[in-house]
Amino acid sequence: MNGDLVIVDDVPGAFAREVVAAFESRPGEEFDIALSGGDTARACYERLAADGAHAIDWLVVNFFWGDERCVPPDDPDSNERMARAALLERVGAANAVHPMRCDETLDAYQLKLGELGQLDLVHLGMGPDGHTASLFPGSKALDADPGQLVAFNEDPSGRNKHPRMTLTYTGIARARLVVFTVAGAEKRPAMEAVFAGEDLPAGRVQAGRVLWLVDRAAAPRSL
Ligand code: 6PG
Repeated sequence: MNGDLVIVDDVPGAFAREVVAAFESRPGEEFDIALSGGDTARACYERLAADGAHAIDWLVVNFFWGDERCVPPDDPDSNERMARAALLERVGAANAVHPMRCDETLDAYQLKLGELGQLDLVHLGMGPDGHTASLFPGSKALDADPGQLVAFNEDPSGRNKHPRMTLTYTGIARARLVVFTVAGAEKRPAMEAVFAGEDLPAGRVQAGRVLWLVDRAAAPRSL
């Protein structure tokens, strides 16, 4: 695995602090963040909406997504729907919101990210199988062309439903900072494997800096 692993008791609180710190490190600049899906992410966004409400000038924040399920934006499984409810609708207007739309071409999102150059922060979770974003074990997007920032992908195991759009490793690597948030005992086997250097999708992530915020239940026993 790449990056630094920090064991924290309060993953959402630690995440909110990292986002505020990253925002404060870019004074006078727009702040470009790519959001994750999942229950851990939902808890992180609800806390960020509370703790970051006054520390972050949301009017200079541009929201992107690290992955999306190919469902309508009002579908209960939509990552966009989750983030709007947990964060965007709570903090008010942002500078821009760029949801992933599977019915648009990949090029549309590729161009948005290409124009950016770098993302300030990419938030990632990790599944019990070691997937991150929608980069699943054994899936095609793991080996996307290095010039591809986004890809359509599916979970060949069938455990994670819906066709997806996802950042590729190249797309993630454009982040100044990747923050992983991993919580709960069900994640410990994958966390142990990634920490031991086994080749799981989450372990392949590289970026300017990779920070793992992991609670005690998910943390490798050796730490
Ligand atoms: C998705 C997410 C996915 C998620 C992990 C962890 O769209 O499903 O991007 O990568 O972060 O599956 O999800 P939980 O926090 O719900 O375990």
